[in-house]
Amino acid sequence: NVNPMPKEEGLDHTLSLAREGYLYIPNRRHSFNSNIFETRLLGKKAICMGGKEAAELFYDEEKFMRQGAAPNRVLQTLFGAKGVQTLDGADHKHRKEMFMALMSQEGIKDLINLTRNEWESAIAKWEDMDEVVLYEEVQEILCRAACGWAGVPIQEDEIQARTKEFGSLFESVAAIGPNHWLGRAARNNIERWISGLVEEVRNNKLNPPENTALHQFSWHRDATGNLLDAEVVAVEVVNIIRPIVAIAIFINFTALAIHQYPEEKVKLQSSDQKYTEMFVQEIRRFYPFFPLVAARVKKDFIWNGYKFDVGTLTLLDLYGTNHDPTIWDNPDLFNPERFSEWDGGRYSFIPQGGGEYHSGHRCPGEWITVEVMKAVVDQLINQMEFEVPEQDLSFSLVNMPSIPASKFVINHVKKK
Ligand code: HEM
Repeated sequence: NVNPMPKEEGLDHTLSLAREGYLYIPNRRHSFNSNIFETRLLGKKAICMGGKEAAELFYDEEKFMRQGAAPNRVLQTLFGAKGVQTLDGADHKHRKEMFMALMSQEGIKDLINLTRNEWESAIAKWEDMDEVVLYEEVQEILCRAACGWAGVPIQEDEIQARTKEFGSLFESVAAIGPNHWLGRAARNNIERWISGLVEEVRNNKLNPPENTALHQFSWHRDATGNLLDAEVVAVEVVNIIRPIVAIAIFINFTALAIHQYPEEKVKLQSSDQKYTEMFVQEIRRFYPFFPLVAARVKKDFIWNGYKFDVGTLTLLDLYGTNHDPTIWDNPDLFNPERFSEWDGGRYSFIPQGGGEYHSGHRCPGEWITVEVMKAVVDQLINQMEFEVPEQDLSFSLVNMPSIPASKFVINHVKKK
């Protein structure tokens, strides 16, 4: 039995998506009283869905593919062309393994040590500053740590400009006008720079340590035994550095939560790693970051009485699934305790995608993100003192990515 999907009438709703941001899909799931609905985006029929069952469906590789799913503005800024995000099947698994090989316990520990060292040097610098814009400073810390970890040499006099370029890749995706074009220019600059380094590695002019992304990716062979094009290696190295810099967004929300929930600060000061992890998980659930992920229907099928036609663009609601009242009690309450007995479901808590790391598209950087955030909680709580002056700390559920308006300003910084 095939039923029509609840449908948003009208010619096109791309503007509504831009206007409602993180809440575009949740608002309609609510008003249609349905976890799935049909609409029109970018001039074509599209399906939007959210919740645990929808996530499970979305990550079924027999039914969905990534080929042709990412709009051009995303490829030109956030993703880059021909990266792991755009691959399917055996090609995807082979490329994904290249990423997962970096995510060993040792590897993660190296990145955490780099991050802690950079953070400690930054505290010394912040002690002499009248005012510290945390978002910008943390991006720089993470850019230094990420380049070091990836084996990418970066000169002291280029660090600020490169940090801005990496930031622009994820800040420009949904932007209109000049900010969007800045992102495209940043991608061209960064890819040109990194492909040059790949050529140097291949000509033995540059020898990054063996366990780094620049080394591993430069010498990676595809399933047919060939090296990747230098441009593709550059895209994938950027797929390591860019999202590490983007952890600055979660860190801004971490600082915000510590500031706005003083009782959490007390708990964090007196509790163990387990509570810190629960706190970090709640940050990743509660605050907006990635609104959704996109795929296309791979072949015609019927699910719960609804027909999916091959090629149809399908969006999975990440933010709304993390705030789904059938999964989370009082989803709009900030409460780390909810993670004390969490079952670890792969489709219900999906700030960085769902499903499997090795065989699916789930974010390979999820462990890194959690560990970096835990290290930063320790820095903010135990290693430094600071004050938070009056400022506009509001954040939007429309602008993507969402960042507190003031970018979190602190002052009177002192090492503890
Ligand atoms: C994929 C979120 C950090 C590397 C993804 C996806 C999301 C996501 C939503 C898409 C999942 C899908 O397509 O189904 C985030 C967030 C982060 C973060 C919110 C916090 C800053 C990282 C880090 C790295 C990373 C630190 C690497 C060091 C990647 C890569 C993919 C990916 C390479 C593509 C995986 C694939 O297509 O198989 N991430 N991520 N991310 N992420 Fe992350």
